[in-house]
Amino acid sequence: MSVPDRPAADPPRAAAPGAGPLVDRYGRVATDLRVSLTDRCNLRCTYCMPAEGLPWLPRADVLTDDEVFRLVRIAVQRLGVTEVRFTGGEPLIRPGLVEIVRRAGELRPRPALSLTTNGLGLDRLARPLREAGLDRVNVSLDTVDPDRYTALTRRNRLPDVLAGLAAATGAGLRPVKINSVLMRGVNEDEAPRLLHFALQHGYQLRFIEQMPLDAQHGWDRRTMVTAGEILTALRAAVTLRPDPVDRGGAPAETWLVDGYVDAAGRPARVGVIGSVTRPFCGDCDRTRLTADGQVRNCLFATEESDLRAALRGGADDAELADRWRAAMLAKRAGHGIDDPSFLQPVRPMSAIGG
Ligand code: 5AD
Ligand code: SF4
Repeated sequence: MSVPDRPAADPPRAAAPGAGPLVDRYGRVATDLRVSLTDRCNLRCTYCMPAEGLPWLPRADVLTDDEVFRLVRIAVQRLGVTEVRFTGGEPLIRPGLVEIVRRAGELRPRPALSLTTNGLGLDRLARPLREAGLDRVNVSLDTVDPDRYTALTRRNRLPDVLAGLAAATGAGLRPVKINSVLMRGVNEDEAPRLLHFALQHGYQLRFIEQMPLDAQHGWDRRTMVTAGEILTALRAAVTLRPDPVDRGGAPAETWLVDGYVDAAGRPARVGVIGSVTRPFCGDCDRTRLTADGQVRNCLFATEESDLRAALRGGADDAELADRWRAAMLAKRAGHGIDDPSFLQPVRPMSAIGG
């Protein structure tokens, strides 16, 4: 988990131009690519964006399907990326999504393909996405109470999400995960209820500590619901046992839920991602591409590297790969949320991708 205070003396040789993985000065290797396909969304979660939405990216700035695919191909074939996750905003509202997934699934070596979505429209798209090669899906759902859902997302769409989750299971996407963010005074009491809902349907639930990434800059460390609190609430409802499976670079700490199995008949798990109180930056294996073609080496990065300008300026694959490598080399040791000097990134979560 820990990152050395200072960079290693010799930059890794893989940083040489031409070939090699995405390594940083601390020896971390990024193999997990998050691609945001749009900054737009059809919900307005109060902790994410204001009711009126945000100033969206101009359409001309957003990468075309061909441009997205080209950068994914470079990541997979030149930079050692083995997992590609499509995010947003809300990726299901991108018209070319199924086709982008299909092309990514034809790459060799074939990357694992996943999607983070709010679930609206998944009832219709789960099967085409599965057939196109999508492996897994994460659905964001912070409450199973209809009135709360409507208040939290400012849209009366809970039935659509539930239908989307069921369709994901029906289409054979495995596992179907649910991401939940708990907020004080909003849904902080809902951990056991969300867990029972997930267990009942064979979904794998993960709680994510709220991070300072909201467009309104309303996050407050003092009111955040912590991983410790979430675990205490869960333990009051079920028995959790240590998960024998090694966590690897995964951000979620997972537990087995005594007496339950998942949709595949394996022991049921629940996860907690303590991004703030239990940071996992030392094991981070992520690189991010925004919808407008900027590489971000961290959710909390304050600098980005403009691959779109290079790409539209005629750069070849080797040069784009070099630029991506250089961007990752500069990755900082950690998010530094607790540092007095911490600055929230200008881009909100919805424009970075989860
Ligand atoms: N902190 C933690 N998670 C967040 N999400 C959105 N904003 C935040 C935040 N500030 C979650 C969404 C979704 C995923 C993309 O990220 O709920 O599950
Ligand atoms: Fe949309 Fe996700 Fe933001 Fe909610 S949290 S408004 S679903 S991008």
